Amino acid sequence: MNSARSYPEKYISFAEAAAMVQSHQTLGIAIAGSEPVGLLTELASQRNRLEGVHCWTCLPMRAYDIFAQPEMAGHFFNENWFYSFTDRQVHPEGRVSYIPNNLHRASEDKLYATKGHLDVFFGTATPPNEEGYMSLSIGLIVERDLLNAASLKILEINENLPWTYGDTLVHISEVDYVVENHIPLVELSNGESSEIEQQIGGYIADLIEDGSTIQLGIGGIPNAITAYIMERKDLGIHTEMIVDGMVDLFEAGVVNNSRKTLHPGKIIGTFALGTRKLYDFLDHNQNVELYRGRYVNDPYVIAKNNKMVSVNTALQVDILGQVCSQSIGTRQFSGTGGQLDTHRGAQLSEGGRGIIALRSTAKNGAISTIVPTLAPGAGVTVPSQDVDTIITEFGVAELRGRSVKDRMEALIRVAHPDFRDWIRDEAHRLGIVPKTQF
Ligand code: COA
Repeated sequence: MNSARSYPEKYISFAEAAAMVQSHQTLGIAIAGSEPVGLLTELASQRNRLEGVHCWTCLPMRAYDIFAQPEMAGHFFNENWFYSFTDRQVHPEGRVSYIPNNLHRASEDKLYATKGHLDVFFGTATPPNEEGYMSLSIGLIVERDLLNAASLKILEINENLPWTYGDTLVHISEVDYVVENHIPLVELSNGESSEIEQQIGGYIADLIEDGSTIQLGIGGIPNAITAYIMERKDLGIHTEMIVDGMVDLFEAGVVNNSRKTLHPGKIIGTFALGTRKLYDFLDHNQNVELYRGRYVNDPYVIAKNNKMVSVNTALQVDILGQVCSQSIGTRQFSGTGGQLDTHRGAQLSEGGRGIIALRSTAKNGAISTIVPTLAPGAGVTVPSQDVDTIITEFGVAELRGRSVKDRMEALIRVAHPDFRDWIRDEAHRLGIVPKTQF
């Protein structure tokens, strides 16, 4: 392996890199575990010379000063298509705004907004190999597209990034500059699953047959199911997010990708986020390939996997079957991400199924997540016409193709018993489902 310093014509300091960003430019940033921590940190120290820099982000994993600190107002603005904790906190201060989109079109939508023009791309990569190739490692959702589009491309080299295969290679000649920052990668761990998550995991597992290909979304529940499918055979993975539980499934021989109808023999993903165990698993692993989000999450690509089962989670579901996974009323919580892509793609697949699994209550049982109507202002992540299967700890509600009256009955059966009468009474009171049905 070479180092960034093996290319003196490309190698610069953080201060030099940040100094290339100019006022009123658009800055595309690699997302989640691929964030260029050193470059973003340095930008904050140059704020006084910068005005109106528009940053494109998704799922920021650290509370960067440029986004978190009030004195950055007017210097940096954050346009974000998947909020995390800092975005939720600073949203009321007016320095961040949510971009509604679907993951498989994220890079296209972002570039469309500026007529295909991006001034700067800040990303991360592994150190270059002997031929000068680097791997974009754990982030391919938008990174390759933004890198191609940007007028100025700067990569932060980190030897802790795993070398991954697929569409990840970038040659040193394709970038303008590199900086070096060998920090530990951000880790996301789901911890032990609760009793309720285990019950939900059991119901989901019953719907995953041998030979299925699975996608697991972000959150505790999708991860909880991996423990319940250890008896399955010949599973495959085609997912936007590669997570720790998938390593266990692969190492136990449950996932072997042998019956996949698209990319047989390979785990396919578009980004990875988990613990060091996952990153070590991915490093130089020929069993895994990462491709761009525009490909992996295209519903028609997902559908090429027979028996495709997608598993995502949500915050609220109403009796029409509208799923809200991204906001709590008017408060933006996260984003659509790839939920609609994968839910649709799984249903287009032969023998496939889209699953949304959630706890029946939130706030220690004080509120029902199965509701007569979504909270005012809630963002609809999966529309009623796209919804398939809803699962709670009380069972499985199959909604696809069914009338609102039947959806309501199916959802009441999986709602918490304390709220069942309330859901029905409200549905009657509001006239969504009249009391008398013939
Ligand atoms: N009303 C009010 N608050 C609610 C709620 C409801 N109906 N349901 C949950 N909450 C609260 C919880 O109490 C919790 O609050 P806290 O942070 O104060 O503890 C918070 O919302 C998060 O809930 P939780 O169930 O723990 O979230 P999670 O980490 O499991 O993530 C999603 C769930 C839905 C937010 C997450 O999966 C997501 O953002 N999904 C959208 C995108 C997606 O699925 N993409 C595809 C795969 S990557």
